[in-house]
Amino acid sequence: MRVNFKLLVTVVGISSFMFTITWWSRCDINKQDNNFFRENHSPDRSSVTDEFDSKLRFQERGAKSFQAPLDEGPIDYREIECLINGEYNIKCRKEGSEVYMPFSFLQKYFEVYGSVETYDGFERFEFQHSYSSVYQPEDRYTPAGVFMFFEFYNVEERTRVKCISGAEGVPISIQWSQEGYHYPIQISQYGLSHYSKYLREDTPQTLVLMDGSDQYMSHWMLPDSKSQVNLVKNEEKRRNVVEFSTTEKTSSAGISLTMEEKKHLVLTVDCKFLNNGSFTVMVEADTGDMYRLHYVQGNSLIYSSGKNIYYGIGRNKYKKWIHITRNILVDFRKGLSYKFSKNKKITKKHSAKITAISFHGQGLLSNVTLASAAHLEHFYDAADWLVRHQDDQGGWPIMVKRNLIPNILELQPGWYSAMAQGQAMSLLARAYLKSNDVKYLQSALKAVKPFEVSSSQGGVKARYANSYDWYEEYPTTPGSYVLNGFIYSLLGLYDLKEISQPEDRVTAEKLYSEGLKSLKAMLLMFDTGTGTFYDLRHITLGISPNRARWDYHTTHINQLLTLSIIDDDPIFLNTAKRWTDYMKGKWASHN
Ligand SMILES: *[C@@H]1O[C@H](CO)[C@@H](O)[C@H](O)[C@H]1NC(C)=O
Ligand SMILES: *[C@@H]1O[C@H](CO)[C@@H](O)[C@H](O)[C@H]1NC(C)=O
Repeated sequence: MRVNFKLLVTVVGISSFMFTITWWSRCDINKQDNNFFRENHSPDRSSVTDEFDSKLRFQERGAKSFQAPLDEGPIDYREIECLINGEYNIKCRKEGSEVYMPFSFLQKYFEVYGSVETYDGFERFEFQHSYSSVYQPEDRYTPAGVFMFFEFYNVEERTRVKCISGAEGVPISIQWSQEGYHYPIQISQYGLSHYSKYLREDTPQTLVLMDGSDQYMSHWMLPDSKSQVNLVKNEEKRRNVVEFSTTEKTSSAGISLTMEEKKHLVLTVDCKFLNNGSFTVMVEADTGDMYRLHYVQGNSLIYSSGKNIYYGIGRNKYKKWIHITRNILVDFRKGLSYKFSKNKKITKKHSAKITAISFHGQGLLSNVTLASAAHLEHFYDAADWLVRHQDDQGGWPIMVKRNLIPNILELQPGWYSAMAQGQAMSLLARAYLKSNDVKYLQSALKAVKPFEVSSSQGGVKARYANSYDWYEEYPTTPGSYVLNGFIYSLLGLYDLKEISQPEDRVTAEKLYSEGLKSLKAMLLMFDTGTGTFYDLRHITLGISPNRARWDYHTTHINQLLTLSIIDDDPIFLNTAKRWTDYMKGKWASHN
């Protein structure tokens, strides 16, 4: 028997690790031993139920209720057939009076998680009821501070981000359209995550490759005798800059600087092209392959040919000074996944080494710098995008179709999202406080407009049971009442009311307090007793509910913890605590 067992484990592998299922063993197997299976799939469920001390069973979930059987000498395993709900069989093991079911089965059946880990010199099986983590927020929340737990976000690394646009420095989403589109929520989250990282991380290290001083001039390499670099005085910059002249052809080596740089991978260039010039970064992959990333004038987002990856930095970029910051590692990885989208092996996460930076065409350079990070630059790229692209309704229309439930809850391109409006407000508030530039404040103030228009009229406001205002992440008719999007919109309104002058504050303040009132009244409609609902479609449409998966469940908790700092109603903290318990299997008790 031992031999068979080992064989099976080897064949089925780690995923079929045998795992004891605590609550069953406790209530039945010990007492009834072999009668368990017969009893438990008896058609008369009530007779079975009576045998459970059901309160105990639920309250002890997640508690340390399991007592390991006493060591009863040599272990004797037997195979035993296990009939699942009277419907199908799986193979289990019996050891004394204990029954073991394959974990690969339990995992799917109960949506739980586990893996064999080796450390401290031995193997152990680590079981998890859920997979994501709750972050304890700081004691204080301010519209100038870290935004929730966003310092842990890496928006640009998400696979649904096609790349960071060369023209505007913001992420392009491919979640609902493969072509790629600007998604204001993603752009705001990108900005908020970089701002939060900026506050939390040490000052980045920088490496000046050239500025207007003499000392770097000898570093330039020229491809041919016709190419030139000279230090010249510049009126606009009020200092010396480098004037360069070489062919526009990106296939040429260009005028270049060489290096072996693995750590400082964020490039900032201040330059002015006098013709259709461009710059190129040579990158060595893990494999030793050399790739060239070209930043060329034009509106193409990204394209590739051979080992060349091109990012368009926009049209009409010449004859004016441009300041551009690129995370070369991100651009390189996105370039590879764009180029080899069908070959997972190549698109695995590469590291990168910059070996050269070169310029083509004619132009002026005032500054070329590599840094370990440039969070503030990315933050302002996102904030500036919001200012530039806000429409006269104060909104950021989302130009893709959204099928929340196909044919039932659909939004046509051009819809607004309360979550987008709110996250934008949170980002713009921080940009305003950091820079003191009122354009950010004005944009944030305009962003309240869609909150005052109902969803059916093209705005984002729903009204639940004719009593409660709710700001819709997806303003469908009937309403969908997505919880996390609503709370993000409230945090945006909160940030806005905190930073504005008393006379400007009225609308945001009213929208915030109405929204908070609705949230307090409706919050527990999302509580399933074992987790949370993502939205209220089961109520508004009379269909199957949409359970929040664990990462959304923890987002709900993180949001409530943040709200508990700015509002002292105990509902936020108490609910957050109970919802955190659900993540360890401590469910609400039943009748
Ligand atoms: C500028 O150069 C890029 C890259 O070589 C090319 O794709 C583009 O068509 C050129 N633009 C003009 C106006 O010639
Ligand atoms: C050059 O650019 C870097 C990065 O943007 C900046 O920190 C530095 O102050 C600039 N230097 C000059 C001389 O402008």
